[in-house]
Amino acid sequence: MPRKKVENKQKESMRKKKRKNKRFQTVRGMRDILPAEQPYWQKLRKSVEKIAVDYNYQRIDLPILEAVELFERGTGKNTDIVDKEMYKFKTKGKEEVCLRPEGTPSAVRAYLQHGMRTWPKPVKLSYSGPMYRYDRPQEGRYREFFQFGFEAIGEQDAILDAQMIQMAMQIFRKLKIKNVSLYLNSIGCSECRPSYNKLLISYLNNRKKSLCMDCKRRLKTNPLRVLDCKEEKCTQVVSQAPQTVDHLCGDCKTHFTSLLEYLDEIEISYSLRPQLVRGLDYYTKTVFEFFAENDEGTQAALGGGGRYDYLVKKLGGPDTPAVGFACGMDRLVNVMKEGDINPYYPPKPKIYLAQLGDTAKKKSLKIFEELEKSGIMVAESFGRGNLRSQLSQANKIKAEIVLIIGQREALDGTVILKDMNSGGQETMPFDKTIKEVKKRLKKNAELAKKIIAQQAKEKVKIARKKMTKAKNKSKKSKK
Ligand code: HAM
Repeated sequence: MPRKKVENKQKESMRKKKRKNKRFQTVRGMRDILPAEQPYWQKLRKSVEKIAVDYNYQRIDLPILEAVELFERGTGKNTDIVDKEMYKFKTKGKEEVCLRPEGTPSAVRAYLQHGMRTWPKPVKLSYSGPMYRYDRPQEGRYREFFQFGFEAIGEQDAILDAQMIQMAMQIFRKLKIKNVSLYLNSIGCSECRPSYNKLLISYLNNRKKSLCMDCKRRLKTNPLRVLDCKEEKCTQVVSQAPQTVDHLCGDCKTHFTSLLEYLDEIEISYSLRPQLVRGLDYYTKTVFEFFAENDEGTQAALGGGGRYDYLVKKLGGPDTPAVGFACGMDRLVNVMKEGDINPYYPPKPKIYLAQLGDTAKKKSLKIFEELEKSGIMVAESFGRGNLRSQLSQANKIKAEIVLIIGQREALDGTVILKDMNSGGQETMPFDKTIKEVKKRLKKNAELAKKIIAQQAKEKVKIARKKMTKAKNKSKKSKK
């Protein structure tokens, strides 16, 4: 064979080997949420669920895959998340679908699809799950991120806007997230916005040269969006621009004033932000955002929302007012990690099931099931045969009781119950074990409670002693 051919063959075989040994990594912008991070996520989910129940929101699970048109029409064709950041593709059936970039249009689609308009109003829905935006990944910005959201559909009153903000604040409080700022604005309705838009366009047209390329385009497609551009040259122009709140119609003005009054009543402080317009097209009247500041002074948007009184109609339904908000769960977890929250750790098993020999191993699955069914959490390492290694595992997880089944016990229907605190052990029939285990666990729990109470008492005693000593010392020094 010619040398060149041999070399090519060798190269190809190397490439094949490399491909075979390839270690897969997550796709850019995606990440695994590992077990170590889960206690924070659990805590977050539990807090959100509690608020949803307390405020009477019903859970809805919405599909990840939706029609592209839903977001083009709902969120807006010219918004960044639809125009630039949507993961979209054609299915084999030639349907234009996308990975949802947000939840609000889906919630409204579900509201219409399932005839929820006949339900008592407002229809209160809550959801959570992954969203997808093909943006440049960076700290706190992911291509797959998680949101929880609340939507109240069918009610016009500003008290609902206030309640949305109250719920978000309650969640932040539960998660011990401090330094949350609430930014608020009203961007008007179909009555007052057209005349405001005219004013804004004329103001911006006179300063067009000073705007960034994106804003020059936005001037034609969605002039309101120029207001929240982060480019320095645009912020300078915008700082002197006419403000939406100065051009609201009577209805929007009353709505906004009522909202502020409700917020004052529930003692939620806010900053009015005339530049806050939010990046999604469906908002009317109220818009708001929550920001958290970290120790370095950088701000992260934790969530945002507002009223969207025309979205239901835009998606084919009748005139129906609505309001909602969503928060970024990844960002909340990042902030939680910096704070002093106790994440949620699930209860750990206090019983360890050890087995020795083939017959015992065969019985162990059934015994585990019986224990689990009776509400006893059990740990095991069924793959191990060696008793010493199993006992060392039991020690590692701080098991209070080890149940051992050897060859004889498996045949007799008995179990050796080893108390890890006293070291004592006894054999008993399996059907008595569950009762005995429960009895001992209860006794141990009561003892632990007593010890904790005793320790707390001791601490108070020591603190009192220290205080009296300090008082006496200061009395002496005054004399
Ligand atoms: P949004 O402001 O686009 O609103 O997103 C809400 C929150 O999701 C943001 O404040 C942020 O915390 C988080 N988020 C957004 N993009 C990313 C990303 N790439 N990586 C990590 N977190 C992100 C909405 O989605 C509306 N649907 C909210 C709403 C509900 N309005 C009315 N109802």
